[in-house]
Amino acid sequence: MKFAEDFIFGGATAAYQCEGSTRAYGKGAVSWDEFLEEKGRFQANPASDFYHQYPVDLKLCKMFGVNGIRISISWARIFPDGTGAINQQGIDYYHDVFKECRKNGVEPFVTLHHFDTPIGLYKNGDFLSNDTIDAFVKYAAFCFEEYKDEVTYWFTFNEIWAVATNQYIEGTFPYGEKYNVTKAFQAMHNMMLAHAKAVLVYKEKNYEGKIGVVQSLEYKYPFNELKIEDIQAAKNEDVLQNQFLLDATFLGEYSCETLEIANKLASLQGGKIIIRDEDLEVMRKAAKVNDYLGMNYYQSRFIQAYDGENDIFHNGTGEKGTSRFRLQGVGERMEKDGIDRTDWDWLIHPESMFDMLLRIKLQYPNYKEIYITENGMGYKDDFEDGIIDDTPRIDYVRRHLYYLLKAVESGVNVKGYFIWSLMDMFSWTNGYNKRYGLFYIDYESQKRYPKASAYWYKRISQTKELE
Ligand code: NOJ
Repeated sequence: MKFAEDFIFGGATAAYQCEGSTRAYGKGAVSWDEFLEEKGRFQANPASDFYHQYPVDLKLCKMFGVNGIRISISWARIFPDGTGAINQQGIDYYHDVFKECRKNGVEPFVTLHHFDTPIGLYKNGDFLSNDTIDAFVKYAAFCFEEYKDEVTYWFTFNEIWAVATNQYIEGTFPYGEKYNVTKAFQAMHNMMLAHAKAVLVYKEKNYEGKIGVVQSLEYKYPFNELKIEDIQAAKNEDVLQNQFLLDATFLGEYSCETLEIANKLASLQGGKIIIRDEDLEVMRKAAKVNDYLGMNYYQSRFIQAYDGENDIFHNGTGEKGTSRFRLQGVGERMEKDGIDRTDWDWLIHPESMFDMLLRIKLQYPNYKEIYITENGMGYKDDFEDGIIDDTPRIDYVRRHLYYLLKAVESGVNVKGYFIWSLMDMFSWTNGYNKRYGLFYIDYESQKRYPKASAYWYKRISQTKELE
């Protein structure tokens, strides 16, 4: 089993997590600035100081065979208020970054929204408000035109599900609201509408590049596969996280099954999802011209039926065994014998990535291409005199790449893989002890050190063979 010659061995980043300089160089405030300040646990400055260090990081890419980079544009660097006046310094900054990418032979894959809505729009309802949808489409149109000669690969949103669940169900992202399934569905629908509108703008202008959306998917298995209630619970969670968004992406509408379950889950809480015919008209058109899916894949879930009180606890410290996810009428996420977990309780279950890739091919045969836009392992790396032995991470990535190749062998068109993350960076709900990078960062000196995984990744990228 070999990787194709043109396979992308990428590294992923996100503006707010790595740039630092969150309130400098004309950048406007975003939803996270105040939220993190209020919490007082950690903040995103200087993070990995990518704002200044990008030439170093891109040189490391070149040296270590990383031939693609996921970068997100910070909306508030371009439009400090989300809409209206532009910030030339921010616009120029990304021109410089893209130029540096080319210089190093690293293909940029650019996301427009990676969790960082400008604060004014956020305070006005974020993507529950149509104003944000309109502002996003204008921002997207601006970027398409401005960077048309430098960017070939675009993504509108990163992880629509993560936004919705963390804002409205788990309460770990701003606004910090919990257990509101209806708002989560509504936010997802609205973001998919914004995605669709942006895709149509891109296609109408006949730009030469490609465009898609990044979804975070997790295969949902019934905890007891012989129990009808668990099968139903797994389906509930699947619709909530996966199928609602996959339908919107590839069909441009929701199947009867999806709608039935989504409406049932919303109505359990007395809520109602609003999906207008004119939204679906736009979404159907966009679904036909989407170029690819970005799939972030980390883990699977085993779900059992649950009708008790809502009870979610997020393990944001790396204290293994502390997380709980029990959502009334939806299901409860269970541990599973024989399946290991990271310190943050993420199941390590690589074969489930194969199941998800095959599922997409079978259920949505019009999918065209898939990039694994994120996969990787949060780990408490030890820094011993500059030698960082992250064998568990290598093992995690190797096993996922193995199933990726298996999926390719089974006919799934996977074009590339981006490890999350290129270098260590700020983690939204965990701060800095959860490291993911190929390159270790000493946050005080901002020096970068290649981990064992970086040397390993380089060999794979050069030989195109999995060791
Ligand atoms: C998903 C997100 O896109 C990224 O921002 C995050 O840090 C990683 N996964 C790890 O949780």
